[in-house]
Amino acid sequence: MRRPVLAANWKMHKTVAESVAFARDFLPRVKDADAVDVILAPPATALSRLGEELAGSAVGLSAQNVHAAEKGAFTGEVAVGMLADVGCKYAIVGHSERRTLFGETSAQVSEKAAALLAGGLLPIVCVGESLEEREADRTLEVIARQVRESLADVPDERGPDVIVAYEPIWAIGTGRTATPEIAQEVHAALRGNLAERFGDAAERIRIQYGGSVKPDNVADLMAQPDIDGALVGGASLEPESFARIVHFEREGGSQ
Ligand code: 13P
Repeated sequence: MRRPVLAANWKMHKTVAESVAFARDFLPRVKDADAVDVILAPPATALSRLGEELAGSAVGLSAQNVHAAEKGAFTGEVAVGMLADVGCKYAIVGHSERRTLFGETSAQVSEKAAALLAGGLLPIVCVGESLEEREADRTLEVIARQVRESLADVPDERGPDVIVAYEPIWAIGTGRTATPEIAQEVHAALRGNLAERFGDAAERIRIQYGGSVKPDNVADLMAQPDIDGALVGGASLEPESFARIVHFEREGGSQ
């Protein structure tokens, strides 16, 4: 059984004070959520302080990006050891916004994922097709390539320590969620890609869906056999809304 993992990607939102206020409201709401992993990914400026706030709780801290090198002349970048130093257990890598807006390649994502694992953190590796690729019926081919290239440097035995997030670009921030059936089709194919790389261990790798996940659609998504969690943007910014997503089993699905 794969343990569900619900992660909040705040992107470039929230000051330190706003992050702390969120945690104080949110933690009591999810203290009984012991059958799932819950993760908050604030902007880099709030990591340290939010880490203090989350200490002693079961909620994990995640960065939104990392540099693969241990240290050095990389102005503006942050190393794995620095994230560990402020309490991070995870880092998101290869988010489509980083790929499209900042030119991040799958080869870089792969180096980052391997560096995170070597440094004791768990990578959340994002993949996803564009609208153009979906309309050209190239989704599964694009995802297979992204998975292969973005996990190339991950050691064979570390597969189950990776979280993969499938985020169709056309569903991010658009209110246009993939239907549970569309998402499941890609997740199942993606698990097949993971099996080519990691063998039977692919059954233990958690695959999150991301793209306009909300309290009212999370239950139907989570009911799909290969959807093991959610990576949530907009609906994770309010404690009440993200807590409802964490408690997805209480949200009525349509099935
Ligand atoms: P939204 O939930 O705002 O669509 O964002 C999804 C996302 O990109 C999470 O990483």
